[in-house]
Amino acid sequence: MKKEKLLDLLNEMTLEEKIYQLVQLSGEFFNSDDMAIGPKQELGITQEVVDNVGTIYNVFGAENLKKIQDEYMKKNRLNIPLVFMADIIYGYKTIFPVPLALGCSWNPELVEKSMKVVAEESAVSGIHVTFSPMVDLVRDPRWGRVIESTGEDTYLNSIFSSAMVKGFQNNMEPDKSIVSCVKHFAAYGAAEGGRDYNTVDMSERRLRQDYLPSYKAAVDSGCGMVMTSFNTVDGIPATGNKWLLRQVLREEWGFNGVVVSDYAAIKELIDHGVAENEEEAAQLAIEAGVDFDMKTGVYANNLKSLVEKGIIKEDIINEAVLRILELKNNLGLFENPYRGADEIKEKLILCSENNRKLARETAGKSMVLLKNDNKVLPLKKEQKVALIGPYADSKMLLGMWAFTGDSTSVVSLKEGLENKVGAKINYAKGVDILEDYSILGSMAKFIGAEQQEDFNSEAAMKQALETAANSDVIVLALGEHMLQSAEGGSRADLSLPKHQIELMDKLKETGKELVLVIFAGRPLILTDIQHKADAIIQAWFPGSEGGNALADIIYGDVNPSGKLAMSFPYSVGQIPVYYNHFSTGRPERPSDNGSRFRSRYLDIPNSPLYPFGYGLSYTEFEYSDVKLSKDKLTDNETIKASVIVTNVGEVKGEETVQLYLQDVKGSVVRPVKELKGFKKVVLEPKESKEVFFDINVEMLKFFTGSMEFKAEPGRFKVYIGKNSAEVHEAEFIYQ
Ligand code: BGC
Repeated sequence: MKKEKLLDLLNEMTLEEKIYQLVQLSGEFFNSDDMAIGPKQELGITQEVVDNVGTIYNVFGAENLKKIQDEYMKKNRLNIPLVFMADIIYGYKTIFPVPLALGCSWNPELVEKSMKVVAEESAVSGIHVTFSPMVDLVRDPRWGRVIESTGEDTYLNSIFSSAMVKGFQNNMEPDKSIVSCVKHFAAYGAAEGGRDYNTVDMSERRLRQDYLPSYKAAVDSGCGMVMTSFNTVDGIPATGNKWLLRQVLREEWGFNGVVVSDYAAIKELIDHGVAENEEEAAQLAIEAGVDFDMKTGVYANNLKSLVEKGIIKEDIINEAVLRILELKNNLGLFENPYRGADEIKEKLILCSENNRKLARETAGKSMVLLKNDNKVLPLKKEQKVALIGPYADSKMLLGMWAFTGDSTSVVSLKEGLENKVGAKINYAKGVDILEDYSILGSMAKFIGAEQQEDFNSEAAMKQALETAANSDVIVLALGEHMLQSAEGGSRADLSLPKHQIELMDKLKETGKELVLVIFAGRPLILTDIQHKADAIIQAWFPGSEGGNALADIIYGDVNPSGKLAMSFPYSVGQIPVYYNHFSTGRPERPSDNGSRFRSRYLDIPNSPLYPFGYGLSYTEFEYSDVKLSKDKLTDNETIKASVIVTNVGEVKGEETVQLYLQDVKGSVVRPVKELKGFKKVVLEPKESKEVFFDINVEMLKFFTGSMEFKAEPGRFKVYIGKNSAEVHEAEFIYQ
């Protein structure tokens, strides 16, 4: 439909019809009338709103969605179709690894390809928009939602943000794409104390420098929507923050898509204490530029009276409605309200062999080998394995934000190992994931993850020890419960549960080699247990093909190449710990011999247990010194920085070569180093390759003392290495 026609349509709409376009309800209002009664009353939503609502979310299946659309259109006076939105975060039916794991692949091409699969599966199932990617920068693993982010680095997050948007939107082909809604704008990842929904407060410089670029990358890549965050930004909740949503997002960045509030976030303006009542909340949000209201009746019940009282102009509503109509038009819904929904394609595509193959590859690339003493890994097929632990034969490998996935089709670690060796693996559970499931609250019941009342812990431990005694090597699968991370999954204690560690201790006493596989949605604190394992694989929540991907790594068909996208703290007391911190006026120096008056802890080191960028391989890589093509950089020029990387081990391997820069002196304090580039290199044993990076002035820019985004002349250090801590360095001058 042409834009003029959209304007004609807008002119035909009554004020009520316009306002209802700005309301989003979830599926329960549409699938069954019985279920609708409760929530409708709670939200103060009338049937008239339901019949004219602009968008709905989290309903699934081509047949179902077509039916909902048909029934809706029959009642809709002006034939405006619904948009179906959903939380398709890292998989619809084929579930890929969780985003923090995707970040550890350092492979944006593979992630883009994976998200294309996610988009295609969703599109043929009738979904039009996904609430993804979440690109919130994260430095605090106490926050459960670190699982949904690609990690602690601005540059890496921005690259993945763009790759995911491109993957989802896939040139907007109707049966292969969905519109991407980037979230949560802005800085939701910086919640104080890592407690979900808590206050965020930081300088505008830090916000612009570190936190905003990943959202901007999504906008620059053409994402169609932006979701607000629950937190405050400079004292004003994001969902009512005009500066953020109108000035930064629309004026400075030129975003002209749709802004949605996060779940009930408009109503929460009252709890934040910036609105007295729902009417004030509606006013704040619409004036700030929030186009539609997710899951409350605040817009539905208050915008009309605000117009009638002359508090807001109808124009501001028109502006928001027009954006929603444009979204519907861009999706082609006026011509084909079903868009990609197709039951036949659903059967062919969902969880297809090809899709699962890609999920397996992506999972393999996102796992991180943290330790491998005496080359315990890879295992040989002749070795007799004892597979032990609560995750050894678990299908709960999808992570919390994959509720559309089917856990019965997940390949467990046990199944993966058995597929690989073609025989039964000796297995014992040993302990349950948690001793007390009540900490998970009502969610556990909802997803069927409840305490196994008949679990006999003594018998289980005995069986585990017997299984171990009868083996050459133990593979121990431990981790946190999937409900301990993601939304509402903040934790203050980040260690593995005590009873899991007890199991590990007892197994260690057998003297057998021990390979620890960790399933978790965040970096856990491994300081006190890492020495008990000979090898450690960080498997995250690896998705539908998790077990097969792990078996590929454990038996060496895939050589691990994942690198941490988030530091593993030494202890909780060290959080936030991230590699690109400032130097401070009293940095810790080895030469100080533990001097008291330095920026350090008395009881723990400053550095994390495993730094950002860290990850081992079954081979080893040696780096030469850094070579620079020249030692002075001027505008419009580049310096070529290079290193020679050699595979000095026995097997072929893939290395991620990382480039960091440091601005030695600035008008404001600059980080000790910042990631500015990375390159993958695949090397045969004894093979060497020279890896080049172009350094240009763009890479040196930052928000200066006067808040201009520019590079300042002076001395810069170049660091190239295998992770953020092990680097070789050189220096140049920018003039
Ligand atoms: C979350 C969002 C999500 C939304 C809709 C909210 O609670 O913060 O990330 O997209 O719910 O399910």
